[in-house]
Amino acid sequence: MQIREQDVETEMNGKPFAVAGSEPPLYPPGITPPDEPLSLLAFLMEFPKNPLRALPRKLYEKDILVLRPKFPKITYCWITGPQLIEEVLIKQAQSLNKSPVEKRVFAKSVGDSVLTADMDHWRWQRRVMAPLFRHQQILEYVPQMSEAAARQVAIWQKAGAGVRDIEDDMTEATLAVIMATMLGSRDMEIGHRIMSATERYLSKSSWEATFAILKLPEWVPHPGSWRMNSSSHELRKIMAGFIAERRQSGGKDDDLMGRLLVARDPETGEPMDDEVLINNLSTLLLAGHETTAKALTWTLYLLARSPAWQDAVRAEVAAITGGETVTAEHIDQLAITTRVIKEAMRLYPPVPVIARVNTQFLQVGGENLPVGSNIVFPAFVIHRHRKYWDDPDRFDPDRFLPEKEKAISRTQYLPFGAGPRVCIGQSFAMMEAVVLLATFIGAMRFEWDGKHSPEPISRVTLRPEGGMPLRIEPL
Ligand code: HEM
Repeated sequence: MQIREQDVETEMNGKPFAVAGSEPPLYPPGITPPDEPLSLLAFLMEFPKNPLRALPRKLYEKDILVLRPKFPKITYCWITGPQLIEEVLIKQAQSLNKSPVEKRVFAKSVGDSVLTADMDHWRWQRRVMAPLFRHQQILEYVPQMSEAAARQVAIWQKAGAGVRDIEDDMTEATLAVIMATMLGSRDMEIGHRIMSATERYLSKSSWEATFAILKLPEWVPHPGSWRMNSSSHELRKIMAGFIAERRQSGGKDDDLMGRLLVARDPETGEPMDDEVLINNLSTLLLAGHETTAKALTWTLYLLARSPAWQDAVRAEVAAITGGETVTAEHIDQLAITTRVIKEAMRLYPPVPVIARVNTQFLQVGGENLPVGSNIVFPAFVIHRHRKYWDDPDRFDPDRFLPEKEKAISRTQYLPFGAGPRVCIGQSFAMMEAVVLLATFIGAMRFEWDGKHSPEPISRVTLRPEGGMPLRIEPL
């Protein structure tokens, strides 16, 4: 189906056109869950391969599941009902700490940063960093986002039509954005060192998570220990180098690092010392590019499999930008583009699992949760819950039409989390995803080979098994 610019204008006037129905419904790959919770042995086999395969079918149908195994002696609680998520993740936030499993997975690379710290140590870091991420502030970064998108398009145009691993390309493009906006750097040689260190770190994270769940001491080595240690050392060394260079030049540049160097806690007036700065810059670098890269990778996969939606996005981009560079003024008008990204993050949440541990006894959905229970909010399951979504496995961006989106609660759809620890970079990420997707679709066509149906694998972020080979063609 061809979508004309008039159709897009009709959409802008509040009357959506129908893309659905113009091609067969799309049910992209998901997970076939086990019918029952796994035995310890089966769990140990499945979890390191893909933690999502260990989540039983009941979770997609019920609101809460609690397991109390004899070994390890911990209460495990999965919450997937929006009402209960609201009660715990938001209303009981003061009784929750970040999960020790997550802390252990991240400790080597980001230490005790805003992502991993708890209580007062978290609060002051969040207070210092929050102003850096206000909507108005990050609008200033749109030119750098467009520049990185154009750089990626130039690479594709030079290479010409052919099959590429889009996952790698998205990692490179989002890294270019975070390096330019955070470090004021366009040095992609360092960028490639960061990419490879991040890949080495995250690819072994499930081992660290499995060992943490089994409560094995940190000195017990696992098959990924060496890689995780060496890659985190490299990442931190690179960050320390950037800070030292900036201090030496005395510059107060207007990038995120420059702003963080001069930021003060609004209550105490305290700045961050170098250790805390390295922790948080490493956090922003990791959290700020891997996630958006995965959001765009899955979005392009869905658009490659749904040419009608791809055409709809392209027609909208042409109508709004007139073929020019995407600017801050365009972002709010790119409504179809935004809906497609939101639906892609529903089916493939870049952070598929949110985890906590309770510091106070909790009673939830009739279940008793003693202090220290592992409480998990699996966004991947919540976004495909049988009770709360209509035809949950189907790709349908129209779920996010304004009048329909109003009916979606903040705990039924939570790609950025919810409560006080909601993603600090949410607006940055949405802006970046819209700018990059609009630029890419405006310049290139993305095609599916008719075969690749990658399993979504949880490795802190949600990755496609076997990468994301797509055929691309300059327009
Ligand atoms: C599509 C892109 C992104 C997604 C899906 C995403 C998702 C999330 C989620 C789910 C959380 C909450 C985790 C929890 O509750 O345990 C989170 C936290 C966080 N995110 Fe993002 N994120 C994205 C992009 C970004 C960007 C661009 C940045 C920074 C430049 C960023 C920085 C952070 C930080 C610092 C936290 C910790 C906040 C705190 O605990 O106070 N994220 N993110």
